[in-house]
Amino acid sequence: MRRVLTGITTTGTPHLGNYVGAIRPAIAASRRDGVESFFFLADYHALIKASDPDRIARSTLEIAASWLALGLDPKRVHFYRQSDIPEIPELTWLLTCVTAKGLLNRAHAYKAAVDQNLAAGEDADAGITAGLYQYPVLMAADILLFRAHEVPVGRDQVQHIEIARDIAQRFNHLYGAEHFVLPEASVEEHVAVLPGLDGRKMSKSYDNTIPLWLDAKALRKAVLGIVTNSQGPGEPKDPDDSHLFQIYRAFATPEETQAMREAYAAGIAWGEAKERLSALIDRELAAPRERYQALVANPREIELTLEEGAARVRQIARPFIRELRRAVGLRALGQVGSTGAAAVAAPKPAGGKRAAFKTFRERDGRFHFRLVDADGESLAVSVGFASPAEARAAQDALLATPAEQRRRDAIIGAPCAGGVRVELMLAADRPVAFSDALPDADAARACFERIEAALAEIATAAAP
Ligand code: TRP
Repeated sequence: MRRVLTGITTTGTPHLGNYVGAIRPAIAASRRDGVESFFFLADYHALIKASDPDRIARSTLEIAASWLALGLDPKRVHFYRQSDIPEIPELTWLLTCVTAKGLLNRAHAYKAAVDQNLAAGEDADAGITAGLYQYPVLMAADILLFRAHEVPVGRDQVQHIEIARDIAQRFNHLYGAEHFVLPEASVEEHVAVLPGLDGRKMSKSYDNTIPLWLDAKALRKAVLGIVTNSQGPGEPKDPDDSHLFQIYRAFATPEETQAMREAYAAGIAWGEAKERLSALIDRELAAPRERYQALVANPREIELTLEEGAARVRQIARPFIRELRRAVGLRALGQVGSTGAAAVAAPKPAGGKRAAFKTFRERDGRFHFRLVDADGESLAVSVGFASPAEARAAQDALLATPAEQRRRDAIIGAPCAGGVRVELMLAADRPVAFSDALPDADAARACFERIEAALAEIATAAAP
């Protein structure tokens, strides 16, 4: 499965440039077969750029609602909020420690800030936070944590993907394994950079944007405000020299684009070209606009969607971070092995922490047990039993079942709320324990292997 990942910084209100350059192509790509998509709200990145808490929160809501209204399917795509994933800042630090400072000195955003300071006769780093400087490392963590192959971004972000590759390569080189996939940027060639009202790239920083969710009237008014040259009606116009035309092209079919080219050559008036453009944009956005308004009116629903998304991707992130921690040497004391893979496979020393069953009582009075691995992470939770003795008997029965039979009886990837899960059975038809919801069949298989490893560990420890 090819993994496609992209983030959108939660500052401001989404504008047409975000839509054309990032949201639309990413949603289209997420519908292709054979891709697993990760879309997230980059709210940690937002903190670097803005310091108004209410605006950050509002913008997170608006951007989440925008993606959902524009057709993102959270069942098909991993849709989550960066700040719900503690593994991201954790990985940021591991990466920071292998990142050459000089690499970050060369990052465009930082360099531009320095140049501005120097031009103003200020100290080079005046007003520049370490957050801005670290921006590319945080972004590398976003991408590398999920081993993304492809990162759809605007042209201005391509350097950041190159930096992520550099960091990944260096980490892989230092820690002797293919821990990270090297990501590639993908830029949609024709429309990736949409001009704004003044003809420069549409961007919050130039204050030249057209907000995505204007009503039809306000949209028309904004489009009328796009700067054109002074050529009058009837004068032939050069479409390739017109940002109005570039915006038109981003919303038109190839036939419509061709027809508009001819209209330019025939001297269409700017006013008329603008009317046609606003009608075209409205055609594409009218239906999503209604969905958007309904979603923003009901934030609780979006919140639940994001929380579910975070729970799913953390199933992927957690074991990977564990591997990386071991690889760099952050290990339980007494654990041996120098690389991640070797350490994972290394036997636990006698007396060290081991996988175990933990019995507990639920509020309903019934007794359940949890199968935990050596790190204490829960792999599966049992059904309820009337007494601790019965819970214990079920544990013994599970351990006494030969591994091949457990594998045959288990349902690996049974559908459940929030994804799929592993169901462990006794005697083929008696469910005895379940994993948490997992994102996909691969994750379920991986989880089953961890369950088997834990059971094997418990059985070995119990053997005389
Ligand atoms: N920096 C990106 C932007 O401003 C947003 C972003 C954060 C991102 N993390 C990412 C994009 C990871 C792609 C992948 O547009």
